[in-house]
Amino acid sequence: MTPLRSIVRGVGGYLPARVLSNGELATMVNTSDEWIVQRTGIRQRHVAADDELTSDLAVKAAENALASSGMSASDIDLIVVATSTPDLTFPATATLVQQKLGITRGAAFDIQAVCTGFVYALATADSYLKNGLGTRALVIGAETFSRILDWTDRSTCVLFGDGAGAVVLDAIPEAEAGDRGVLGSSLRSDGVHWDKLYVDGGPSSTQTVGHLRMHGREVFKHAVGMISDVIEDVLDKTGHTTGELDWFVPHQANLRIIDGAGKKLGIPAEKTIITIDSHANTSAASVPLALSIGVADGRIRPNDLVLIEAMGGGFTWGASLLRW
Ligand code: ACO
Repeated sequence: MTPLRSIVRGVGGYLPARVLSNGELATMVNTSDEWIVQRTGIRQRHVAADDELTSDLAVKAAENALASSGMSASDIDLIVVATSTPDLTFPATATLVQQKLGITRGAAFDIQAVCTGFVYALATADSYLKNGLGTRALVIGAETFSRILDWTDRSTCVLFGDGAGAVVLDAIPEAEAGDRGVLGSSLRSDGVHWDKLYVDGGPSSTQTVGHLRMHGREVFKHAVGMISDVIEDVLDKTGHTTGELDWFVPHQANLRIIDGAGKKLGIPAEKTIITIDSHANTSAASVPLALSIGVADGRIRPNDLVLIEAMGGGFTWGASLLRW
């Protein structure tokens, strides 16, 4: 088989219309704009309308990604949706996205790696395409975390928001791709940390959806080290250095974690794409949303070397290096 490379053809994002500011949240729980901004960098989040499901957000992001790629839904034969907030326990949200986009061929499935979901989904779709299990993929991160938050718990409800982001990957012969495309990925997990960030419900345990529970300080303690490990691994594997990066597009969980990782790795702030202020932590959607914003405002350009990373529940963590 001709060696293949997955290249990015398009990217798109979608945020629900309703904006919930820190000020408005301060009327719901005992918090303040100042506390939230200082500890996290978040200024507002978007919240899906009652009749808007994760698959609806995913479809809007996918349509935007397809439009930017110049392709249509009929070109797609693989859909991977990263989400922890599926429409239903089953079938996979990816199949609902497939149906809403009118796609009747290929394969569609979900990936569950919480905030690291998009990095896992990208690495999975890349492997599928390189091995001939599809030719063009929609890789989507989509979440409605507003549905699993305990809106009386100020230590968690201020941190998250709803949204979706998507990329279109196209498998082409390596010789044609040159040095463009997904250059490598590094994925990790360690279930020993499961109870530091989890949802206290599920079909097998409680037969309820449950609410997000988090030991914030514990997550914070591990985040920078874990992120740095996978970044160093993917750079090692691909023979690149942080000095060569055009853009660092981190998971948008907390500005202090992003700053800490950037400092540890020697990545300057002006090469880091920060969008957390406008949409908070949208879990699996945060990296593709940040990519779509970086491309839309002209910062990320063709041939740029782009590093993405994420860390989240499980714990899971991962990074990918792409030549745009
Ligand atoms: N408003 C005001 N006060 C608050 C709030 C709030 N929203 N939340 C907590 N506090 C209070 C606490 O009650 C505590 O008060 P006390 O000292 O009287 O007991 C005080 O603030 C300090 O609480 P800490 O939890 O120690 O605050 P910390 O500085 O650790 O900040 C935070 C909390 C922002 C959650 C931080 O731990 C963090 O960012 N952790 C990482 C978590 C994260 O990013 N999770 C996202 C998912 S995982 C991922 O995506 C990587």
